[in-house]
Amino acid sequence: MAALHLAFALALFTGHAAGVNNGLARTPQMGWNNWNALGCDVSESLLLDTSKKLVDSGLRDVGYNYVVLDDCWSRGRDEEGFLEEDLEKFPSGMSAVAEELHRQGLLFGMYSSAGEMTCARYAGSLDWEENDAKSFAGWGVDYLKYDNCYHMGRFGTPKLSFDRYKVMWDALNSTGRPILYSLCNWGEDYSHTWGMSIANSWRMSGDIYDSFSRPDDLCSCIDASSPFCIAPGTHCSVLNIINKVAPYVDRGQPGGWNDLDMLEVGNGGMTDEEYKAHFSLWAALKSPLLMGNDLRSLSAASLTILNNPAVIAISQDPVGHSVYRVRRELNVAKDKYGVGEIQVWSGGLSGGDQVVLLLNAAGEDARISASLEEIFLHDGPEGSAPQINEEWEVFDLWGNRMDNALAQKILDADEKDVEKLWKQANWYNSTEISYKEGLKKRDERLMGKKVGKINAGGSLTAKVKRHSVEMFRLRSVGHGGKRKVHAKEEL
Ligand code: GLA
Repeated sequence: MAALHLAFALALFTGHAAGVNNGLARTPQMGWNNWNALGCDVSESLLLDTSKKLVDSGLRDVGYNYVVLDDCWSRGRDEEGFLEEDLEKFPSGMSAVAEELHRQGLLFGMYSSAGEMTCARYAGSLDWEENDAKSFAGWGVDYLKYDNCYHMGRFGTPKLSFDRYKVMWDALNSTGRPILYSLCNWGEDYSHTWGMSIANSWRMSGDIYDSFSRPDDLCSCIDASSPFCIAPGTHCSVLNIINKVAPYVDRGQPGGWNDLDMLEVGNGGMTDEEYKAHFSLWAALKSPLLMGNDLRSLSAASLTILNNPAVIAISQDPVGHSVYRVRRELNVAKDKYGVGEIQVWSGGLSGGDQVVLLLNAAGEDARISASLEEIFLHDGPEGSAPQINEEWEVFDLWGNRMDNALAQKILDADEKDVEKLWKQANWYNSTEISYKEGLKKRDERLMGKKVGKINAGGSLTAKVKRHSVEMFRLRSVGHGGKRKVHAKEEL
């Protein structure tokens, strides 16, 4: 009895009554993965050139610290059944890569599949989990993306998939090395219902592609909870993925997140506004933020989307609540694919602030309005939320986007000049001050640009271009801590 009480008290004390507790991904993980831009074209020099770019462009210091190597890195198993790296692609070996990344203040991620082969038909880890977890830990790996191809028919019920993925979770744990565990089972077998018990993140859709709204037969599932969604597929648009996650947004929590797949920002298929919308939604929906572009040819425009600290601060807010969709309008102008909708998303942040996204995924520019009653729906339906009677300051989270010319200067600068430019720019540096600390101090660089006010009982209105988003932080004027802040903050 006493032991039981102690366990309960501990659970209350740590606030982790359920879910994984390996201490990792308390906010959604951030970093880079080669797959979207480069597929199987992987090598040691790619990883090291990328890590140098992460440091020199300042992307490491706004939070992107995992360098994740995807499929196609191995040459099979040795006689004792251990995976070997392809030494033509990685001549110094994986340990050396890990060491170099660690020296640069970065972390190293690798990939395998809970199947007999990986999706690109390299050796998989199914039934080799213990050996492979030992190899990853021995090489100094900090993150495992674990895919779902060639699973030998061991899927079809949540329990079958859970058990298959749990073997690797146990194997990783028994190495004693903290390794972030990222499930890549495309939402199959309802991974949003069990992923949080064994993993730090779980994919909830088929693979993303570089289109904002184009439907594609390869991504036939539009509703992940449908029993007919047995082929999550590839070629899923940004809009397809956000519509799929909408009913599950509350499943993410500190330590375990819905994974909407890697970012496409910078890969060339979307407009600047579409990329901003994609990035804003991934941040507000608490997806891991893994850049998926080739950083060796990073453009100024992509850099200024990816390095916006006011948007990243939404992703990294210690409360760890995703935004919820409070409105979806389908009866609007369609785009060239016959797709068109307008959506309003809203969610609670630390300190009683609120984030609101007005998404125009329609075929024409639109004026979008959201009342405080709608914005605070989750704090009390039918107008019962106390926040409706308060006055709010409105901050545009894209209002202080880095100037293109400065971004270009940073990208062109010699190693020795980069630091100087950074100091001059006074850009946010989360290696020096964490987002949690910065938010507590209300660091201006995380707040965005003040653009107006909403009176008690009023509404937020903005002109939103087609295929774009307007994203705002709302701050209550002088609530002085009188209102109970609903969101529980991480200790
Ligand atoms: C699957 C995954 C992708 C990528 C490839 C690699 O399609 O979902 O993210 O890892 O495999 O082959």
